Amino acid sequence: MSQPGRKLAVIHHRFADWVPTLEEADPRLDIRGVHPRDWKSMDPTWLAEAEGLFCWMLPTGLVSRMPKLAWVQNSGAGVDHLVAHPELPSHIPVSRADGHFGFWMARYVCGHLLGEAQHLDECAKAQSLAHWDPKLIPEDLGGKIALVLGFGRIGRQIGRALRELGMDVTGLVREARKDPEFSLRASADLPGLLPTARCLVLAAPATEETRGMVNGGLLRNGHSNLTLINVGRGNLVVLDDLLEALEMATVGHAVLDVFPEEPLPPDSPLWHHPKITITPHHSGPSTPKDLIPDILENLHRFAEGRPIEDAVNRQRGY
Ligand code: GLV
Repeated sequence: MSQPGRKLAVIHHRFADWVPTLEEADPRLDIRGVHPRDWKSMDPTWLAEAEGLFCWMLPTGLVSRMPKLAWVQNSGAGVDHLVAHPELPSHIPVSRADGHFGFWMARYVCGHLLGEAQHLDECAKAQSLAHWDPKLIPEDLGGKIALVLGFGRIGRQIGRALRELGMDVTGLVREARKDPEFSLRASADLPGLLPTARCLVLAAPATEETRGMVNGGLLRNGHSNLTLINVGRGNLVVLDDLLEALEMATVGHAVLDVFPEEPLPPDSPLWHHPKITITPHHSGPSTPKDLIPDILENLHRFAEGRPIEDAVNRQRGY
């Protein structure tokens, strides 16, 4: 049964981009948008009637103003901040969108790894000195081992791109399973795989199981030519342990796009560490038009009053 005009509140820092994109995707919906800091300025009567919420972070106090809330669509891939939100009743389905992030993140991972392999920093230094250095031979990544922790749509896309660089890719998942495309091992096998790995890419969600998984016990199995790249969540890594591993040279270089606290505080020792590359959580930018294919089916379902499908398993955390 069609329910014309079902209300969808868009409470998002990029609401001005999202509202027209969502309206175009399903013109049957009654959509209103606001920046999260201004959500209290929304008409409370309209908000109380709204059954859908499109957001990134969930503002405190909002859910109690939305007694009819029946669906939350997140604008991104990671939903750790939503699934565990104390104000969000467990029966409300939460959906995520991860379809197009994999391409961005694959480019990010390959870009940083190729930057190392091609010695871009050293080349730039040599150029600044007008020095022709014939010893600046690129590293051959062919056949070197890349480990990707978290092998959903994003991890797989990263794995494919690394394989195109000639690397030997293994995906790490909760339980080892057969896969037509890649070797998939249990994440518990990681310590044994690290000694021969050239890079460890973290593309896992933050869950009870993954938080702090990359710690001193694991990193002591690494070596000075191991590059750690984190595009998942900051709290997968115990940062003090990483600093120690860099000191002990069981990790050679860490490329970090995500942090337990964002923005990374100006006084963080990570900023000026010579073996750490910091980027501002930009490995997977969310551009509305690219995310619509992920959201569309549920948007139509919501508009028509049909059940939401493929909601996140809130127990599992993704
Ligand atoms: C961004 O970090 C996302 O989870 O989409």
